[in-house]
Amino acid sequence: MAEVTSSLAAAALAVLRANDRGDRTVAAPRLYPHQWSWDAAFVAIGWGSLSVERALAELRHLLRGQWATGMLPHIVYTDEPGYFPDPARWRTSEAVSAPREVPTSGICQPAIHSLAIWLIAAQADANGGEDPALLETFLHETFDDWLRWHRWLDEVRSTHATGLMEIHHPWESGMDNSPRWDAPSAAVLPGEMAPYVRADTRHVKDTSERPGDDDYDRYLWLVEQLASVGYDDDRARATVDFRVGDVFSTAVHALSAGLLAELGDRVGRDREAAALRAIADRARAAVDATIDPATGLARDYDMRAEAWIASETIGGFAPLICGAAGADYDRLVQLLEGAGWCGHPALAHPLPPTTAPDAAEFASRTYWRGPTWPVVTWLISWALQHHGALEPARRIATAGLHQLADGTFAEYYDSLTGAPLGSHDQSWTAAAALAWEASERRP
Ligand code: SER
Repeated sequence: MAEVTSSLAAAALAVLRANDRGDRTVAAPRLYPHQWSWDAAFVAIGWGSLSVERALAELRHLLRGQWATGMLPHIVYTDEPGYFPDPARWRTSEAVSAPREVPTSGICQPAIHSLAIWLIAAQADANGGEDPALLETFLHETFDDWLRWHRWLDEVRSTHATGLMEIHHPWESGMDNSPRWDAPSAAVLPGEMAPYVRADTRHVKDTSERPGDDDYDRYLWLVEQLASVGYDDDRARATVDFRVGDVFSTAVHALSAGLLAELGDRVGRDREAAALRAIADRARAAVDATIDPATGLARDYDMRAEAWIASETIGGFAPLICGAAGADYDRLVQLLEGAGWCGHPALAHPLPPTTAPDAAEFASRTYWRGPTWPVVTWLISWALQHHGALEPARRIATAGLHQLADGTFAEYYDSLTGAPLGSHDQSWTAAAALAWEASERRP
């Protein structure tokens, strides 16, 4: 265990410890009592600054839920109660590709995992001692699993002419009720399905912080449609009401596939590393091609309506994540820091909200429609730094840490008032604090 130096890092570590279940970390104590896919990756980054062994255990646990197709499901369920939909609602036990021993959901989430491994590897090298050997053992044992995950995203989920990664449920984007999905969601028309009771609004009393009941009807209807075809991707494409090319997920996949290639180099998997670089290049080119020349923002694509989705959301900054946009990268950074986004005078902190404050859809308290999500802020600051935009990266990291000084480790924050919202003691928010603190300690 590394030494914890600041009081914020100590408080963040206390959150992770309270949410720790030994080999996995619940995403949040009551609202999300299971292991979520992209949460687990961020959480592993947080653990990595303290214990490489514990960080790798988090990712190993997630892999227990991997499907025969290569898909990593967005939830690996534990036996803790209080969350809906449960595995019975997903009917994943009937799906031929689902794991038999481990209950999971039937959809995926952004593929941030290889970024986590890459950062844990850097930490292991810096730590020395037994850590580099632990990491290499992990890579020898699991490299093919991560490779299968990216191959599935490439070969099965990136077949559309745009090259974008296709999603079949807003939950797959991780940004459930973002205005990005308003137009394609309007074409989701719920039919007959079993009644259900939401559990999330039992935990979050102010319902304006969560997606609406209409959103939930659509979410559950899409689960119904996907379950009816056994989560078979070919049949899903023909059946499901929601088929969208998700530019942010494509960017995350591009970034992670490229980083997994570097990890492949490290363990002598040259052929596979070359294949991953090709996957990353294709995904990055797809992200690049979505950029709206008028606004400079990247766009999603509605594959059913065959239309670009122009939205003023954080998704528009996808090229910053994977290093697309070429010469326009700096223009996009300026847009991010400008008066329409981080520099907007009404914001509580100079941080990117999930929707532009002047956009008609902006709602400062409502989940992915306007609040600031620290984990997204962290990802952007890390990516900016990785791609050489050092000063903007530092400014965002500093403001991000400042926001977290309230010690609630909230899931998201009202971007206008700074009030903590959703779940408190959210694991990935604590992980973001630990990751920022760790990078501050590095020379
Ligand atoms: N974000 C979803 C929820 O709110 C699930 O992935 O439950």
